[in-house]
Amino acid sequence: MHSDDVRTAHVLVIGSGGAGVRAAIEASEYGETLLVSKTLAGKGGCTTMAEGGYNAVLREQDSCEIHFEDTLNGGAWLNDPELVQILVKEAPDRIHDLLRWGAVFDVTGSCQVAQRPFGGQRFPRTCYAGDRTGHEMMLTLIDRLNATGVRVVNEVTIISLLKDGERVNGAAGLDQKGNLSIFLADSIVLATGGGTKIYDISTNSSSGTGDGYSLGYSAGAELIDMEQVQFHPTGAVFPYDARGRLVTEAVRGEGGILKNALGERFMGRYDPDRMELSTRDVVSRAIATEIMEGRGTKNGGVYLDVTHLPHSQVETRLPVMLEQFLQFGVDIREEPMEVAPTAHHIMGGLRITAHGETTVPGLYACGEVAGGVHGANRLGGNALADTQVFGKRAGEAAGKVKVRQNRANPIQIEAIQKQLESFLHGDVSPSAVVRSLQIAMWEGAGIFRNSADLEKTLGVIEHLGTLRLKAATPANFAECCIARHMLACATLVVQGALLRKESRGAHVRRDITQAWDGRGSPYGHTYQSRSRQGIETAVKP
Ligand code: FUM
Repeated sequence: MHSDDVRTAHVLVIGSGGAGVRAAIEASEYGETLLVSKTLAGKGGCTTMAEGGYNAVLREQDSCEIHFEDTLNGGAWLNDPELVQILVKEAPDRIHDLLRWGAVFDVTGSCQVAQRPFGGQRFPRTCYAGDRTGHEMMLTLIDRLNATGVRVVNEVTIISLLKDGERVNGAAGLDQKGNLSIFLADSIVLATGGGTKIYDISTNSSSGTGDGYSLGYSAGAELIDMEQVQFHPTGAVFPYDARGRLVTEAVRGEGGILKNALGERFMGRYDPDRMELSTRDVVSRAIATEIMEGRGTKNGGVYLDVTHLPHSQVETRLPVMLEQFLQFGVDIREEPMEVAPTAHHIMGGLRITAHGETTVPGLYACGEVAGGVHGANRLGGNALADTQVFGKRAGEAAGKVKVRQNRANPIQIEAIQKQLESFLHGDVSPSAVVRSLQIAMWEGAGIFRNSADLEKTLGVIEHLGTLRLKAATPANFAECCIARHMLACATLVVQGALLRKESRGAHVRRDITQAWDGRGSPYGHTYQSRSRQGIETAVKP
């Protein structure tokens, strides 16, 4: 096996969600830019599935200071304050970019961008396009991308980053037939999104397999806070095939109420001030507790009810929810939805600077694959803003790189080819490995954690990593590589969870009692790279 397919560019962007496309648009101002998408640019990834909205300070009564504080409070003070400052200051400009490029957000009677309340925020600052906000953003971004000279390569899975000494200088990818392509570039932007497909129940599309965490780690990058996995409180519980599908927080933002099977509005027991609009970590734990203590529905969820809202409000503000549940046989105008927590977002990721630089020269990261912005729990609506703010920054910084390089290291390529060929002689299907991983992660590294379960889960992952993955034909090579990415991502999550000996935000250790909250914690980020791992002591903002 060999590869004659070598393509070069100034900037290589890996990933075609909101962050990747925004980065590519920006990088194209500085030189030839190549965007490689595992799916079809604009169609796969999580941005297009994001329903509820985009947080930005747009009204005089609101302020960046309040958005900053809300984000840090929501993130249990584990966020990097410099990154949060940038997020809140630049989110308004970046939504204005989208509006200039033709995005259609909902507006008020006086033609201002409409905003709705989301959890953990003291001002209704979540801008939206009904409940298909991410879809509207992606349509706009792809139109804009098409007007630049960015070359797009679809349906290629990146399996490894290439290096020349300490710097990254390219990536190896596989197309759907298993043909190997080499992409060489002066700088690389990783924008591969998240990885909660490592869990049995997840909101992520099939592309959320944690590839970027694994690629970055293997290339020597440092990752922080990988234990911080957000479980969105409201995922669908039936039908079976739709388990985990996102039921947007906008439902609660519009006034939706949570009730248990006894008809009790239970959030009063967990956060009487904020009720359903508490932060996601609190609402998820509340729902999980109701279910575990026997007050869940027959289908294993709780009720989310909008039947008290005017039909017209449901029809205009939540059309996707209405349609989705009608397909499940439930008219949400007349009967409650059933929901339960679902793995949604990884707050941790590659450590970045304000310009998206990782700890590896030439490698930039933005969007969900980067860590630090959201701390220990992300506020709903901050992710879409993050994609635009840090996508632009990473694209610009990668574009400004002056080092020129266009030489692949044949030894690295040979090693990759050897690895791929070995899959033809394996004996375990990658889908079986992934299934075992998802169940182990759901059971042992979920909402409530303890050291014994985490150690057991790590043991399962290590065992799965020793199995020889089998590709029946080269067309299955990518699936084998993705299974390896998922194992690497899960290892980082579980190791991080063992390193963090406290409960903080989305990470709850039931085997540890502590006398502090997030703000008073003696700990900072967990960090993991090939050369070191540990937990920092806190730096007070
Ligand atoms: O609930 C939602 O619509 C998800 C939004 C987000 O994760 O930011």
